[in-house]
Amino acid sequence: MPIEWNEQDKIFHLYNQRISYFIQIVHGKYPAHLYWGSRVQALQPASILIYKSRAFSPTTEPGDPKFSLDTLPQEYPAFGNGDFRLPAYQLRTRDGSTITEFTYDSHEIFPGKPHFEGLPAAYVEEENEADTLVITMVDSMLGIGLNLHYTIYRDLDVITRSVSFENLGSHQVEIHKCMSMSIDFRHSNWDWLHLHGTWARERHIERQPLHHGTQMISSARGASSHQHNPFVALLSKNASEDHGEVFGLSLVYSGNFEASIEVDPFETTRLAIGINPFDFIWVLKPGETFQSPEALMVFSKEGIGGMSRTFHRLLRTRVCRGIYRDKTRPILLNNWEATRFNFTEEKLKKLSDAAADLGIELFVLDDGWFGRRNNDKSSLGDWVVNRKKLPHGLKGLANYVQTKGMQFGLWVEPEMISPDSDLYRRHPDWCLHVKGRNRTLSRNQLVLDLSREDVCDWVIETFTTIFNSAPINYVKWDMNRNMTEVGSAELPRERQKETAHRYMLGLYRILGTLTKRFPEILFESCSGGGGRFDPGMLYYMPQTWTSDDTDAVERLKIQYGTSLVYPAVTMGAHVSDVPNHQVGRNTPLKMRCHVAMAANLGFEMNIDKLSKDERVTIKREIKFYHQIQELVCFGDLYRLLSPFEGMDTAWMYVAPDQQQAVVFYYRILAAPNPPLLRLKLRGLNPKVKYRTNNVAPAYFGDELMKIGLAVTQIKKDFSSEIFLIQAME
Ligand code: DGJ
Repeated sequence: MPIEWNEQDKIFHLYNQRISYFIQIVHGKYPAHLYWGSRVQALQPASILIYKSRAFSPTTEPGDPKFSLDTLPQEYPAFGNGDFRLPAYQLRTRDGSTITEFTYDSHEIFPGKPHFEGLPAAYVEEENEADTLVITMVDSMLGIGLNLHYTIYRDLDVITRSVSFENLGSHQVEIHKCMSMSIDFRHSNWDWLHLHGTWARERHIERQPLHHGTQMISSARGASSHQHNPFVALLSKNASEDHGEVFGLSLVYSGNFEASIEVDPFETTRLAIGINPFDFIWVLKPGETFQSPEALMVFSKEGIGGMSRTFHRLLRTRVCRGIYRDKTRPILLNNWEATRFNFTEEKLKKLSDAAADLGIELFVLDDGWFGRRNNDKSSLGDWVVNRKKLPHGLKGLANYVQTKGMQFGLWVEPEMISPDSDLYRRHPDWCLHVKGRNRTLSRNQLVLDLSREDVCDWVIETFTTIFNSAPINYVKWDMNRNMTEVGSAELPRERQKETAHRYMLGLYRILGTLTKRFPEILFESCSGGGGRFDPGMLYYMPQTWTSDDTDAVERLKIQYGTSLVYPAVTMGAHVSDVPNHQVGRNTPLKMRCHVAMAANLGFEMNIDKLSKDERVTIKREIKFYHQIQELVCFGDLYRLLSPFEGMDTAWMYVAPDQQQAVVFYYRILAAPNPPLLRLKLRGLNPKVKYRTNNVAPAYFGDELMKIGLAVTQIKKDFSSEIFLIQAME
């Protein structure tokens, strides 16, 4: 059993073959954090926790003046009784105070991992894949229980954490803050790394040294956001792509979040992630339980790359679900950039004829097919086919597409409502709003109030009807604005600050129901590109539209940054027309294809207007993509050269059995008289001989990794090359 309880020293040891995590119950009351990192056999508590009396650090234990919660490394700290650092939680009680005294009550260790109804989370398929520890703390005066959940995976270097508050008393309490986890590291000699951005520029990497005090990232936009991904990592100073210790945290949640890091004067680093406490209060009545979202905690001693590969395996196999989880995804054509709202059935048929001819497998009809939606000013909520554009309905178009041997996909934006819609005229109170206040528009639309059960039921039934109305194989689930005037007509005064989280629970119920009703549909989530690229969404929809920016150069950074946490099989990547819609740049078709081929390949262009040469190029690249698709989707990723550091980018995917690999190389601007370039490959078997692109001679894996694969630089901007590396028989 990889969770041991040492009754005498009151120490829990969670471990697998490679990692250890130790918790000690100090003074029989307080769960202290001892260690998380590479596997160690056992800890001697005396040498681990050294107490020292510190001026102005109060003690809760009069018999032990050296003891203070202010200096104790803790697992789930409170505020108000001695620890002046950022607390993991805060409750407000009946008398208005926020003082709590949760102390250890009991614990349970069991195989497997429990499922939290209504919330996305990592899962197990067999009980023996993981073990779970639940430490129960109690505040006996309040009659509230606090459960700290820990699961350790056997074959992944992952610990998951979450907490739940249970009101076993007779009075309600308000939860003002509830982080999913908190951990205190014993030093502050770290860098921290996170992914920031905005629309069309998502998930750029930022790495900085820690400073004293608090540093944090968060979202208060009602979505995980383009601006900050719910992910943060601590890196040892020497950590690079391939070496050094990295501690990565990701939150399985799609709404407002906060990740905070506080360095105190004694160089303790407190790291926490959870629901953003800003503008959040949850009323917990007697008999009710509040379950936090889950945090995924990855340890790597093989640098950032090692962390990414663990996140990839976890997200791909134990967060994503459904029949597409382990399958490569169809190559699609989406009509958005080709037509925007301006299409007819004839135009769509022409596009689909051209798509079929090129070997495209799925035709996706994007925005504009319903109501009076000829621009973005109306009709969200009026989900009735526009017969002027589609005289034969969705079914007619879908049937046509399918006779061409392709699947049919549809764009929807179920969470939104246009003020200019019949739905809004019927139900003006169905959007998020605050009575008497302005309803701020974004992209001319408002957000449906998914904290309401009746609105969620309407969404479920409306989209059940649509998905049943035609042979639909794929759905792109879009969401094109963030929340303002966050309030609900249905909730009483004291529950208004629950709205944003209730919205997420409502959304998860909708997604849970629809994906269960339509298991054959491949769902792709989208929020103006990558505004909600998070593990919560991936639990319901196994892929996400990475960004509305399809420029091949910009995409290098976006896809590279995204790959820190998310595997290629979860990323939608499309080849689009030039000049590019977002940046006006002209890049060759070959490079646009090569960038998109490093993830789920798709096209989003006027393919009926291609030249003969362009058609030949696309056909050739699609053929080649079929050869490498399994590797890209399910291989191990090694990043070789970063687009954040220069003109060259390279990454590679290696098959789990190391018999095959595919290397992608991109050069942005050509250089005069450039130095010779060798890409030092990674992840190969040093003793196996490999051929590149089936050309002799063959090289041993160690030569390719230590000396490198020679890349010929050509005299051309925006060049790219893909190398297929295959083991010799
Ligand atoms: C935003 C998406 O990211 C685009 O791909 C497209 O679907 C538009 N919405 C349609 O309104």
